[in-house]
Amino acid sequence: MKIAMGNDHTAIEMKQAVKEFVETMGYEVVDFGTNETASCDYPVFGEKVGRAVASGEADLGIVICGTGVGISLAANKVKGIRACVCSEPYTARLSKMHNNSNVLAFGARVVGIEMAKMITEEWLKAEYEGGRHQRRVDLITEIENKNL
Ligand code: RB5
Repeated sequence: MKIAMGNDHTAIEMKQAVKEFVETMGYEVVDFGTNETASCDYPVFGEKVGRAVASGEADLGIVICGTGVGISLAANKVKGIRACVCSEPYTARLSKMHNNSNVLAFGARVVGIEMAKMITEEWLKAEYEGGRHQRRVDLITEIENKNL
């Protein structure tokens, strides 16, 4: 299974730590950057990860900026993306089980590296439950389709 990762300049160290952690869990990681310490624009990397997941190039995505908010907003603009900012493992797990989130976001200025790993592990291990949740996820997709 392939995980696309993207981040801005605030999250290079965290991305590297989470990337290594995800690899030890047995996943392949495609790193869309940035790996440059110079200040950059998070939407560029949020979009790259969103497009990789939406196209099927990657199965899931993980995006990190200072808060997780900006980069998740950018990823969410890609059709088919359900990116969720999670600062603790419970929300991360439920975002997969109930919302079928396909991109996980968190903030390098909000959570520490160990918490980021826990959030990631919980999210990757969780499975979408479908059932009653599918109707609600379908309603989200309907909203998205009205924007065309
Ligand atoms: C960069 O300073 C910061 O705005 C960015 O990392 C992110 O937190 C935006 O949502």
